[in-house]
Amino acid sequence: MKAPKPPRDSTLAVDAMTQRQAKREHARLEAEIKTHDEAYYSKDAPTVSDAEYDALRKRYEAIEAKFPDLKTLDSLSRKVGVAPSRGFSKVRHAVPMLSLQNAFSDEDVADFAGRIRRFLNLKEGEPLSFTAEPKIDGLSMSLRYEDGVFVKAATRGDGFEGEDVTANIRTMKEVPEKLKGRDIPPVCEVRGEVYMTKAAFLELNKRQAELGEQLYVNPRNTAAGSLRQKDASVTATRPLHFFAYAWGEMSEMPADRQSGMLKWMKGAGFPTNPLWRIADSVDEMLRFHHDVGLDRAELEYDIDGVVYKLDRLDWQERLGFVSRSPRWAIAHKFPAERATTVLRDIEIQVGRTGALTPVAKLEPVTVGGVVVQNASLHNEDYIKGIGNDGNPIRGGTDIRIGDTVTIQRAGDVIPQIVDVVLEKRPKSAKTYEFPTKCPACGSHAVREEDEAVRRCTGGLICPAQQVERLRHFVSRNAFDIEGFGEKQVQAFHADGLVMEPADIFTLADRDRRSTKKLMDREGYGETSVRNLFDAIDARRKVPLNRLIYGLGIRHIGETNARLLALHYPTIEALREAALAATPPSGEKGDKGNDAWQELNATEGIGEVVAMAVVEFFKEKHNREALARLLKEIEVTALERPRQDSPVAGKTVVFTGALEKMTRDEAKAMAERLGAKVAGSVSKKTDYLVAGPGAGSKLAEAKKHGVTTLTEDEWFVLVGGK
Ligand code: IVH
Repeated sequence: MKAPKPPRDSTLAVDAMTQRQAKREHARLEAEIKTHDEAYYSKDAPTVSDAEYDALRKRYEAIEAKFPDLKTLDSLSRKVGVAPSRGFSKVRHAVPMLSLQNAFSDEDVADFAGRIRRFLNLKEGEPLSFTAEPKIDGLSMSLRYEDGVFVKAATRGDGFEGEDVTANIRTMKEVPEKLKGRDIPPVCEVRGEVYMTKAAFLELNKRQAELGEQLYVNPRNTAAGSLRQKDASVTATRPLHFFAYAWGEMSEMPADRQSGMLKWMKGAGFPTNPLWRIADSVDEMLRFHHDVGLDRAELEYDIDGVVYKLDRLDWQERLGFVSRSPRWAIAHKFPAERATTVLRDIEIQVGRTGALTPVAKLEPVTVGGVVVQNASLHNEDYIKGIGNDGNPIRGGTDIRIGDTVTIQRAGDVIPQIVDVVLEKRPKSAKTYEFPTKCPACGSHAVREEDEAVRRCTGGLICPAQQVERLRHFVSRNAFDIEGFGEKQVQAFHADGLVMEPADIFTLADRDRRSTKKLMDREGYGETSVRNLFDAIDARRKVPLNRLIYGLGIRHIGETNARLLALHYPTIEALREAALAATPPSGEKGDKGNDAWQELNATEGIGEVVAMAVVEFFKEKHNREALARLLKEIEVTALERPRQDSPVAGKTVVFTGALEKMTRDEAKAMAERLGAKVAGSVSKKTDYLVAGPGAGSKLAEAKKHGVTTLTEDEWFVLVGGK
């Protein structure tokens, strides 16, 4: 007879473990926790529920409590596992983080080399080598490793004391958790620059602008803002990078030259900038500066000069410091990136989502080697001299057409107007009136309270927004037309075949009469065209809530569309209500007329949403486009929630930063599937769907024994609906 199998380590109670079993299980848990951490922090895609993760951590710590020698210096229990929500505590630098002196001309560089020669008393002809490295325009960071394991990250601060941003830095893939290779000194402080690429900066700012949120000035500020997030899970969503180039406290030195240290840091697992060179003479230093300057615009990140460092570390030591900079290094800056020129005109660009952005048309001027004719003016308030926070900027000076302005190419990105030269303001300078009509379509453009951005309301017909709106119109939760996705919208719009929603439904008819048939297009055949037309026909009947959602009215997501459809039985009723509504004038006691109050009192619909509905229907272009659409389709009653879904009748709460859907989408999806969505967790809650950064609700759910799901688990539960 076979002996019964011993229980597997992973199911064994900690109390029943032998030392060997404990060691194995401890290692297994460590690996598993690390995989989850990596998924959570670096890839931003959690792989287990928080409850499961906590259970792993608890077991890991329980093993260490019983077998203390397993708690080594690099034990996970010594580290901050989950991003704590906190202020930043101070860290005193073991070795101060100093700055560099600047050189602005070739002579400055020659003087620098000469001073070093004299100081070291070098004989003529004695070789003097420097490393020449790009000067990265980011923020400096000190990373402390003990026994090869990352323990602390600190910003530069005042050079002596910085801020503890360990949890934030831990979210960066490029910063190694453990140093590679043998012979790692017990204490290592590696220093370098955290930066963001220009492309990532532009992308992030575009999103911020569309959301009407604070704009960052340049990649460096953006990197700093991204890093100094109290909630490290926000940092995790920002693409930050790192280059190592210096060090602080080192218990032993692994090399005796700067170049050797750069190689060592690379070998230990840090990214180092690949452009650095050895320069054996002033000429070579200057050549490097020149060459890097030429390539600068093509680099993915901003640099603002190059840094020369004496290669021999023993010589560095002899040279020491003057005040707060080393004598053995210097930053050779690139020419100023500012210039003054005349503002000829201001043009308005309309973005995909209808945001009106002012662009300065300038008398061409060369800034940092590039001819600039356009510059960003951000928004209406910026022109008036008001900052994002409502406080005056530039001392409250507005920008007028005809003004002489200072422009800045903020680190190779879109140039900006940063100041006005008031002494040069001509009498003829004209105050700029920001348009209240969309220059692309003539619809009125409105600005919501507390919003910096003015937006076009002619969503359905505005050429600048058409593609985006059509894409929304055919999307899954709106008209859901199969085989009519982004690609088709783009192509049909480019060919002038589909410019507004109604055109989708007249496409087949027009095709019949046309000589240029759809089926003759590349990628189409008889069957695919028939399928497309069938799919369109299948959506000629549409539930009211989907129609309202599909119109793309600002603030009307699926939930609000459903609420409106619950209250107003037809689209005509909604239109008439919106047209009849007069919002409050702002005078005391004026609450708006009855129609406004009814719209505003619709369950769940607040003032901002009601206003957006009124603005939409007030725009004649929209009413006309809607009328053309209504000729083609039949609107049916509100879609009833599904009763056959796995979550029908259940109560669901969403919390944390959802990543695959917006909160509104999540709520609408749950409701469509027949679930009730609640705002807080109680005994009655069936599921808590928690994204990263979930806090008190998660604790509450644990207390009540509520099932907690990640976003992915939620999708699995509802069958990927
Ligand atoms: S060496 C003792 N190397 O420039 C000084 N600094 O103005 C050690 N920087 O605070 C700094 N790239 O933030 C050094 N390759 C590089 C650099 C670099 C950018 C920044 C760093 C420093 C500032 C000095």
